[in-house]
Amino acid sequence: MEIYYFTYTGTSKEIADHLGKKFKIKPREIKTYKLPYFIWLILSFIPYLPFKAKFEPPSSDTIILCFPKWTFNCPPVTYFLKKLKNKHFKTLVMIISYRGWGEKFYYWLYYKITSKIAQEIKIIFIKKKLWDSGFYKEIKI
Ligand SMILES: Cc1cc2nc3c(=O)[nH]c(=O)nc-3n(C[C@H](O)[C@H](O)[C@H](O)COP(=O)(O)O)c2cc1C
Repeated sequence: MEIYYFTYTGTSKEIADHLGKKFKIKPREIKTYKLPYFIWLILSFIPYLPFKAKFEPPSSDTIILCFPKWTFNCPPVTYFLKKLKNKHFKTLVMIISYRGWGEKFYYWLYYKITSKIAQEIKIIFIKKKLWDSGFYKEIKI
């Protein structure tokens, strides 16, 4: 199993670290350029748009991927997933942190992007407020 994360304000890293401790795996970061918020906001309105990112390529058949909900798209994560288009994972778990709105469409978008690369797909949404409050003692995957 491998754990990947992309974060802008740190929540997805916290979630990845939490899972990393549980499964004794060091999470790997999906890194990209540091762009200002308003640029990311504009790009996040374009579904399926990838934005170049760097990451160590995965080698196992089970992936946990933590990332934020950004309007209709998180471009560095979309880039990561598009780069894996020839892979066939057994399980892909996406853990998406968000402020609390628009999750249905995002679920559908990322399900569509990943449906051909994994046999089993699981998408879990975590509200940032609840995460920050310590509500999630454990994330059941
Ligand atoms: C460009 C951008 C777009 C966002 N769009 C949404 C959104 O549509 N719905 C929502 O609930 N939160 C939205 N958020 C808030 C983030 O999903 C939320 O703060 C998340 O927990 C941040 O994760 P991170 O700390 O790992 O970056 C957006 C944040 C950014 C920066």
